Amino acid sequence: MKEYLILGIESSCDETAASVVRNGREVLSNVISSQIDIHTLYGGVVPEIASRKHIERINQVVDQALKEAGLEGKKPDAVGVTCGPGLVGPLLIGVSFAKAYAYAQDLPLIGVNHIEGHVCANYIENPDLEPPFMCLVVSGGHTHLLRVKDYGVYEILGRTMDDAAGEAFDKIARVMGLGYPGGPKIDKAAKEGDPEAVEFPRGHGSDRYDFSFSGLKSAVLNYLNSCEMKGESIVVPDVAASFEKAVVDVLVENSVKAVKEYGDRAFAIAGGVASNSMLRSEMEKALGELNVKLYKPSPILCTDNGAMIASAAYYRLLKGEISGLSLNAVPDLKLAGEMAP
Ligand code: KG4
Ligand code: ZN
Repeated sequence: MKEYLILGIESSCDETAASVVRNGREVLSNVISSQIDIHTLYGGVVPEIASRKHIERINQVVDQALKEAGLEGKKPDAVGVTCGPGLVGPLLIGVSFAKAYAYAQDLPLIGVNHIEGHVCANYIENPDLEPPFMCLVVSGGHTHLLRVKDYGVYEILGRTMDDAAGEAFDKIARVMGLGYPGGPKIDKAAKEGDPEAVEFPRGHGSDRYDFSFSGLKSAVLNYLNSCEMKGESIVVPDVAASFEKAVVDVLVENSVKAVKEYGDRAFAIAGGVASNSMLRSEMEKALGELNVKLYKPSPILCTDNGAMIASAAYYRLLKGEISGLSLNAVPDLKLAGEMAP
């Protein structure tokens, strides 16, 4: 079998990342330059600042990824780059860089859907994982429950009707003064709290497998406001744990329902929120009872990285799906099989 070394580039939000992956599964380097320290000052990602930082860092990040993979002075076999969905400015930096690099080195260029990248993060540490399987993608911008019917072929079962799961974590953390990004802060605070302390609603979308987190978000805000008005102090770990449990309950509930209906024996979680400790353990418990194997990437592969993009690009390359130099950034790019909202 021919060996392919793919350079994967990711810049859709606030991480400038590049990685070299062999045959879609073996990571030779994985360089991530995070901008969290800068965006923390503003309580969230500022797109214009993110674009500028990507420009400053992308050369160095790619050089380092090639060097660590032993490709200094040599070239990979192809370049994969996130072309959407994401912030248009940040996406354009990665896409423009990848186009220039592919042109200069005479390499095939493959545009990758960021959500597909998150799904493919699961291939990296699990040589046994092959489609079909079910996947829950929970990130700062997306919440999708889908079936991976084959490499690059998806059936979307449900998605959020409003906020993404990670977005809800970030917003609640901000109002509680925990800082950005909120997910890891709530995860940490919740470990000391009681998930039954405050009763928050479990939101569902209108369709069977859809999600909704805006009602939960309002309920937490109302709770915090009413405590303040009554002069009652807030037990941050209890609120964090109760909120986290409300999010995790609906994610697990819909996942279990779908597994029972479709009969899949393998289930993968992906995206930044997939590194949440309560989600990982509750999923393990619920799917274990059904004898369904749970795949969960290491936290560094859950949040944005170039390795997942290289893996996705590899499977597109095997199908001969090359993008060419007309590739553009598409901020609302849909996943194969996904309908417009
Ligand atoms: O996948 P990702 O890096 O970027 C997007 O594609 O959006 O996900 C980032 C999101 C943020 O909302 C962040 O708060 C959340 O993932 N996140 C977490 C945890 N770590 C990151 N949410 C809950 N628990 C965590 N441990
Ligand atoms: Zn992401």
